[in-house]
Formats: sequence, C-alpha cells, structure tokens
Amino acid sequence: MYKLINFQVHGNYQGNLVALEKGADFPFEIRRVYYIWGTTPSNMVRGKHAHRKLEQVIVCTSGSCDFILDNGTSRETVHLSSPAQGLYIKHNIWREFTNFSTDCVVMVLASEHYDEKDYIRDYQTFLSEVKQQQKAKTK
Ligand code: TYD
Repeated sequence: MYKLINFQVHGNYQGNLVALEKGADFPFEIRRVYYIWGTTPSNMVRGKHAHRKLEQVIVCTSGSCDFILDNGTSRETVHLSSPAQGLYIKHNIWREFTNFSTDCVVMVLASEHYDEKDYIRDYQTFLSEVKQQQKAKTK
C-alpha cells in the first residue's frame, strides 16, 4: 500500500542535509512540489481523496503527523516525524492526514502537474473504481 524511503543524510557538526534526485534513490521524476503548514487544530483532517494516476513522496520536514491510508480493502496509519524519511504512495490509495503537531510542515513531491481530474474526492466513488479495476484484472 505504501513504502517508507530512508533518505541518505549528509550530516556533520553543521547539521543535516538531504538531497532528492531522480535516480536510484527516488522512484519518479518530480514534476511538482507543494507544502502544507499551519494545520491547526491538530485534529483537523486534510486530504480525504485518492488519485487515479499520481504518485507522491510525502516528507514531514518539521514536526509530525499521521497518514491514514486505505486501499479499498484495508486501512493503515503511518506516523511521520523525520525529515530523513519519505512516504511513497502510488495511485488508488485513499489518504487522510491528521494529528498534526503545531510545528508540522509537510512537503509533497509529486509525479504530475496539478490536475483536478486526477482526484477522486468521494469515498464511495473510490471504492467502486478500485473494485472495477480489480474485476478487470481478474478477467
Ligand atoms: P487540496 O487538494 O484540497 O488539499 P488537501 O487535500 O491537502 O486538503 O488543495 C487545497 C487547495 O489548493 C485547492 O484549492 C487546490 C489547490 N492546489 C493547487 O492549486 N495546486 C496543487 O498542487 C495542490 C495540491 C492544491
């Protein structure tokens, strides 16, 4: 449903640095970057959508938050709290983000430009699209 990527950290007495480049340690060519902060109150729930095609690597560059991931059959919660770790999510995963710390900054690296047609914003539509694709695969 997801993969956690541990980035190479260049750290010394000056602090730490992570560089993300297309290649062996990054799963796709980055076409878009966006970031989210100021997510108060902490129990706010963002996301609540899936993508038809988009792949993303999500990094909590400051603070922490929870990602609830759902593939139409099961649900898992992933807690992100390190800028050295990326949460890799492919298409057809329903996601909700919550439990934000006050200093939380979430950076998202995306494989495609912004396209509202790629979003599934209704959970029942998501379930029926996933079921249809599973049926098509087993035919
Ligand atoms: P939205 O996808 O609803 O955010 P989230 O799922 O994290 O709660 O996006 C919020 C607004 O930002 C919405 O008006 C669309 C706009 N937006 C862009 O213009 N470009 C982007 O790349 C993204 C992700 C959102």
